Amino acid sequence: MREFKFENRTAVITGAASGIGLELAKRAAHENMNLVLADIEESKLQDAIAQIEINPNRVTSIKIDVSLEEDIKKLADLAFKQFGGVHLLCNNAGVGMNRTTWDHSHADWQWVLGVNLFSVTHAIRHFVPRMLNQAESSHIVNTASVAGLLSTSGMSAYNASKHGVVTISETLYHELQSLNSLIGISVLCPAWVTTGIHTSHRNRPDRFGTHASPPEGLSSSYEDRMGKAVHSGRLSAKDMALAVFEAVKENQFYVIPHRKINHAIELRMKDVLELRNPTPLE
Ligand SMILES: NC(=O)c1ccc[n+]([C@@H]2O[C@H](COP(=O)([O-])OP(=O)(O)OC[C@H]3O[C@@H](n4cnc5c(N)ncnc54)[C@H](O)[C@@H]3O)[C@@H](O)[C@H]2O)c1
Repeated sequence: MREFKFENRTAVITGAASGIGLELAKRAAHENMNLVLADIEESKLQDAIAQIEINPNRVTSIKIDVSLEEDIKKLADLAFKQFGGVHLLCNNAGVGMNRTTWDHSHADWQWVLGVNLFSVTHAIRHFVPRMLNQAESSHIVNTASVAGLLSTSGMSAYNASKHGVVTISETLYHELQSLNSLIGISVLCPAWVTTGIHTSHRNRPDRFGTHASPPEGLSSSYEDRMGKAVHSGRLSAKDMALAVFEAVKENQFYVIPHRKINHAIELRMKDVLELRNPTPLE
């Protein structure tokens, strides 16, 4: 079995200023790793770092927009230069939005796919070749969502981005396996967790249009539902981080901490296999 060591190795985490990313950073510090933390919200990232128990020489941070390839390259350059290697790469930054599919503007699609999906493709392009050259084991964790395994209404761009993250992760898994590489990979698929995800518009870069127009009708009810659902999360961001670190240790690919969602995943798979029309989600 592959041996993976956390101690004195280096973790790179995007979206580290809040929610799941911050808990991943705290857990990595607890495991005695060096930290390279990235987020688009710079002051919040500095506040987050102040909450992490770590020797300041062992943490560095950078403000980036993960949807930009040049920013992800900067992140990779910083991590390899500062700590000489990357052993845990958590592609975690993400944004959500709720609208009917026909109320998503092209700019909405570009924003959500840029942050949630292209961040991952940029990171694979700029980290994996360098990680392949490392002598030590390393691991990539892509934060998808159960939205990457289901098709909940009102979340078309989000669903497409997360289905994309799941399939890209599976594809990369097969490719790394065929090389017998020392890089493991996991895909984190949480259901609802109480974080800042329902206020993602706070981080919408101007180039995607400052804000989407206020939702009306069905779109508005989808947005309300998301706010309530995020606050109803039964598992915490800390639970997600614990599940991720356990999965990295065990080299486990699928990380689905909310086990109650299994019935919905199974129903969707059965719909496909039995050629049934999609069963509505509860
Ligand atoms: N909270 C949930 O219910 C839930 C469920 C499933 C999956 N997820 C996923 O978990 C991940 C983390 O989200 P969270 O729930 O902790 O939300 P969050 O809003 O608390 O944290 C997301 C972080 O990403 C950062 N970010 C946003 N846009 C960015 C950009 N362009 N460049 C760099 N950083 C950016 C934000 O500033 C924030 O710090 C996301 O990928 C999200 O899709 C969350």
